[in-house]
Amino acid sequence: MILDKRKVVYQIYPKSFKDTTGNGIGDFRGIIEKIPYLAKLGVDMVWLNPFYPSPQRDNGYDISDYMAVDPLFGDMADFEEMVCVGKEHKIDFMLDMVLNHCSTEHEWFQKALAGDQYYQDFFFIQDQPTDWQSKFGGSAWAPFGDTGKYYLHLFDETQADLNWRNLNVRKELFKVVNFWRDKGVKGFRFDVINLIGKDEVLVDCPENEGKPAYTDKPIVHDYLRMMNQATFGSDDSFMTVGEMSSTTMENCVLYSSPDRQELSMTFNFHHLKVDYKDGQKWTVAPFDFEELKSLYHSWGKEMSDKGGWSALFWNNHDQPRALNRFVDIQNFRKEGATMLAASIHLSRGTPYIYMGEEIGMIDPDYDSMADYVDVESLNAYQMLLKEGKGEQEAFQIIQAKSRDNSRIPMQWDASENAGFSTGTPWLKAGKSYKDINVENDIQGPIFTFYQDLIRLRKEMPIISEGSYKPAFEDSKQVYAFERQFEDQKLLVLNNFYAKEVEIDLPAVYQNGQILISNYEDAEVSEKILLKPYQTLAIYVNKYSSKISSNRVSSICNLKTVF
Ligand code: GLC
Repeated sequence: MILDKRKVVYQIYPKSFKDTTGNGIGDFRGIIEKIPYLAKLGVDMVWLNPFYPSPQRDNGYDISDYMAVDPLFGDMADFEEMVCVGKEHKIDFMLDMVLNHCSTEHEWFQKALAGDQYYQDFFFIQDQPTDWQSKFGGSAWAPFGDTGKYYLHLFDETQADLNWRNLNVRKELFKVVNFWRDKGVKGFRFDVINLIGKDEVLVDCPENEGKPAYTDKPIVHDYLRMMNQATFGSDDSFMTVGEMSSTTMENCVLYSSPDRQELSMTFNFHHLKVDYKDGQKWTVAPFDFEELKSLYHSWGKEMSDKGGWSALFWNNHDQPRALNRFVDIQNFRKEGATMLAASIHLSRGTPYIYMGEEIGMIDPDYDSMADYVDVESLNAYQMLLKEGKGEQEAFQIIQAKSRDNSRIPMQWDASENAGFSTGTPWLKAGKSYKDINVENDIQGPIFTFYQDLIRLRKEMPIISEGSYKPAFEDSKQVYAFERQFEDQKLLVLNNFYAKEVEIDLPAVYQNGQILISNYEDAEVSEKILLKPYQTLAIYVNKYSSKISSNRVSSICNLKTVF
């Protein structure tokens, strides 16, 4: 695998992207219909959340057959056509591989339940449960049929953890990976992959360890190398990303260093916990800018210095929209959306766009608990009530934190259900769709800004390849960094607040050129006044006089938006 660092990934939550049958659920034919839209945006790869047969207890992350397509989304011929149409538009597909656990309806678990020892060894079955907690609340152990034993489920009780120590399990899973490679997919996103290295004997977590005993075990690196060798490792054009739960930088450097032959890059979530009060998700608090800035700087610098590679993102199907979390959307939605975009698209790593981000979609603003469907949100609501919160307070927390916030139907136009479906959508559309939708916004400032950022990454090695260095580390409202490549430098300034702020521009940038900004009148001078949520990138090249005039004008003529 040799990572092409110019590529940008777009995430589609298939259930909510585009329904062509009227059953209220998005499908492959809907994705095929919208491939030209994705090509217009300029993305190279589409990551699809799971579409395999599944009881849908956890929206497809509970897979009951890894090598088939859930008829909800179409059939295998539709899938294959989608991959082909993608290729015609230079767009490849990255599939979600959920290999830490499978559904209890999978035949492996069913055979285990029926008493087959061979398949019982696929799972963690013990006489006594440990004190481990499920990530969705409650014990991580459930009774294994009527045997008096228990099986491990780190997530929902219908998601049984698979035992990677068992060679037969690994063989089956690698077969799955190769099955989809043979269908022409060019990437995988491995779900919670740093949890696959459980010990031989599972024991209670010592109380003050802070981390459960199953995260980032050294053996995960061995398993990843085995998988790499048995599957995608031989294909240079392949791209893989591991979703890393509560991980460390040290491990992410190892997971993603090219010479280790594990994965191309890693997702971590530390920066999306900066609005958790006392580290707890089900709370509402303003985000901690100092914490956000320091996390971005420490990860950016260490991954850069040590040769690791990060997946960069603000949104995904598990997170409320970043715009609602980090931006005053009443007054500065467009400025905030473009600033957030620049802060990762100009940084070091591979940027991921979550569907709807490119038009500035926001949370749905539901009125009632009855609108939510996600298992985690429903459990959390009950837990909050049990803890003594009133219904209104509990509801407000769910409203701010639910994963359904990002899973609402994609907003295509102002017609009923946001143009997503002619039937009743499986999850209600957000309230904002009459104003915020593709039809309205495709020529608008946010979409065109994303197009520019994607094009710049392709044109300029300083963006795709350059190193990362923190800048203005003491600023109370600007997150800034420098990129360097050969004799070129790029300074990226991002004002995270609705207040203006003055910056003393370092001398080296004072003769620089504005590469991109979300305000039209931006200028380079000794002192720069950054406007609310302004992003400004200043480029210098020691040998700029030697650059062909074409090149310079392509840089200078970039559109600025406001
Ligand atoms: C990952 C997925 C999430 C899912 C969980 C269990 O965190 O992103 O949606 O619920 O894994 O598979």
